[in-house]
Amino acid sequence: MKKLLCLLSLLIRCLPLSAQPLNWTETAPGIWKLSVGKPEAYNLLTAAESQPNLSAISRLGKTAFPLAQNDIVATVVNGKTYLRFPLDRGEQLFGFGLNFQTVHQRGKILQLHVDHYGGKDNGRTHAPVPFYVSANGYGVFVNSARYITVYAGTAARKDSKNPPVAQDRNTDKNWSARPYSDAVEMLVPAEGVEMYVFGGPTPLDAVRRFNLFNGGGCLPPRWGLGFTQRVHRLYSADDVRKEAAEFEARKYPLDFIGLEPGWQSKSYPCTFEWDKTRFPQPEAFVKDMLSKGVRINLWTNPYVSPEASVYPKIAPYTGSHTVWVGAVPDLTIPKARELFWDVFAKDHIGIGVSGYKIDETDGYDYYLWPDVATFPSGLSAEQMRQTYGLLVQKQSADLFRNRNQRTYGLTRASNAGGSSLPYVLYNDYYSHEDFITALINSSFSGVLWTPEVRASKTSEEWLRRFQSVCFSPMAMINAWASSTKPWTFPEVADQVRDIAQLRMQMMPYWYTEFAKYHFEGTPPFRAMNLEPGFQAEVKKEVVTASLEENPYAEAVGKEIKDQYMAGEYLLVAPLFTGQTSRKVILPKGKWYDFYTGRFAGEGEVITVTPGLDKIPVFVKDGGIIPMMPPLLHAPKPGQKVDLDIRHYGEKPGQYQLYDDDGETFDYERGQYSWRTIRVERRKNGQWTGAVSAAEKGKPDTIGKVTWRFMTK
Ligand code: GAL
Repeated sequence: MKKLLCLLSLLIRCLPLSAQPLNWTETAPGIWKLSVGKPEAYNLLTAAESQPNLSAISRLGKTAFPLAQNDIVATVVNGKTYLRFPLDRGEQLFGFGLNFQTVHQRGKILQLHVDHYGGKDNGRTHAPVPFYVSANGYGVFVNSARYITVYAGTAARKDSKNPPVAQDRNTDKNWSARPYSDAVEMLVPAEGVEMYVFGGPTPLDAVRRFNLFNGGGCLPPRWGLGFTQRVHRLYSADDVRKEAAEFEARKYPLDFIGLEPGWQSKSYPCTFEWDKTRFPQPEAFVKDMLSKGVRINLWTNPYVSPEASVYPKIAPYTGSHTVWVGAVPDLTIPKARELFWDVFAKDHIGIGVSGYKIDETDGYDYYLWPDVATFPSGLSAEQMRQTYGLLVQKQSADLFRNRNQRTYGLTRASNAGGSSLPYVLYNDYYSHEDFITALINSSFSGVLWTPEVRASKTSEEWLRRFQSVCFSPMAMINAWASSTKPWTFPEVADQVRDIAQLRMQMMPYWYTEFAKYHFEGTPPFRAMNLEPGFQAEVKKEVVTASLEENPYAEAVGKEIKDQYMAGEYLLVAPLFTGQTSRKVILPKGKWYDFYTGRFAGEGEVITVTPGLDKIPVFVKDGGIIPMMPPLLHAPKPGQKVDLDIRHYGEKPGQYQLYDDDGETFDYERGQYSWRTIRVERRKNGQWTGAVSAAEKGKPDTIGKVTWRFMTK
């Protein structure tokens, strides 16, 4: 009998996994869900508490299920879930979280694990989001707070529909140690899981559905898109005041200052209490800074010092292991949340603090809680690790939401479900090139990333880094250790001021593009691979063109890791230290130089030599960029701001400009407006522009409008 059972179980294990029919249900237009086995109650979406924006998803319309359903396999064997999704020949994959060195993910083996980034794209990263996007125009999301192992087109099954052909290594020089694989396979260490397929038809549509499913992208307050300086960790209130005054005097924009660990009486572990020697009167200090148009953002990590006043009360609700001898609050327990966030609500936000940088929720294994740690809620250390970043983002953001006040801050860890949380990822890794690749990859995962500037060896490096951070979700210097300032290199101080001011001038554009992230799910900074038409072209051109005759064909087939889209119209191609020129791939359609309006190219690879003071930026034909004067601080709610609207190229253009009070959640109750900007050519050949009127009773902050038709 025992033998028979053994045989039977062996048989079951060897059965083609496709034996069981799967039952996908469409939960919103173009989004299908499948539950297999017994999915765990705690997952990424419950941790993030995200709510789908169903009406926005509906606006994307219906689309067919993008995969052959019979080729998807999901089964539970011995307490683990095995998943298989088919792949076409030549189908490229993107995503699987915040990778730093690669954009193409087909052929990778990853273990998705929240961690600091250790220099390899192996799944251990600050946001190992279990969502991938296919160049064929769909996405797959596995909603599990477990360490998922991914074989992204690496494993070959005996029952594969498109098996690799055995080749003789002795005689065949095409023999490969990595035979062809026709599937993404995943192992989820849990007795079941829920997963989702997101339809397109384009890769960008799949990403939009994913972001809207997570509640839509975050809409920062206007000030969040200005400039931010994080000051040295031991700065006092007076040092901060002096620094803000210097920004003002030198005419560098500044919207918020980040205080690093020294504002707290103890850090690593933290007390969350003001250090009274450096900040004797926190409330007066914060108010004083606010009156100067500069907000305060506080660094913290969540590990509770035994000397924190909250320690004795929160101790019963903390994990078995410490981080730097600090207790780890189990933030899934309501009482722990209440106790933990109380001091934040009263002593920080209550006196006017505008946001947080929540550090150290990612890794590293040598100091974070180990996988053998236990938590009073009964959740495992693994589940905590995968979701702690989401928990702190959501819960801190709610403190602001309760006051009808928006925030925008920094987080070291995130995961799927977090798109709507107003936080930007950062780390200590500091490779300029890889920071740009991370910015590109963030767009496949519903997260934001800043290529922060810290210190530099040369003025060239300083300016190059500064240029790219001004074309990112958070324009920031993080001087916590270096004490650098924008003017640290006098020889490029003017150029740095120019680009910081350009960041401010572009605020109407950035703000609108973030509104689109929120209302339509379109990532404001995104990979070329999400550019409509770019992918289709890649395939077509690569197949048909001779590479020698058409270098574009060669280039687009490659991984694009160093140029990206910024908003609807802009293509940004940063330069790195040592480069004086670079190649830029301009997709089909005409492109124009952002600074001069001159024609730059059309569906081709160009070489640019921009000089040190310019970051190459190109505008699509018909592109409209609404700009404002270079204010040193973001406009206040209701403040009228003059617009300087630029038009590029030969095509007429149309742009929806977003407007609201810039600070509250009243937009969720309809207090916002979209104004149509139109640029057309008159019969006499002259360009003319118009802005539609604001609806009655809706926000209207547009002052005087001037037009700049950039292409002569
Ligand atoms: C690091 C963080 C830095 C800075 C520093 C302060 O973990 O990445 O940006 O905040 O801590 O100790």
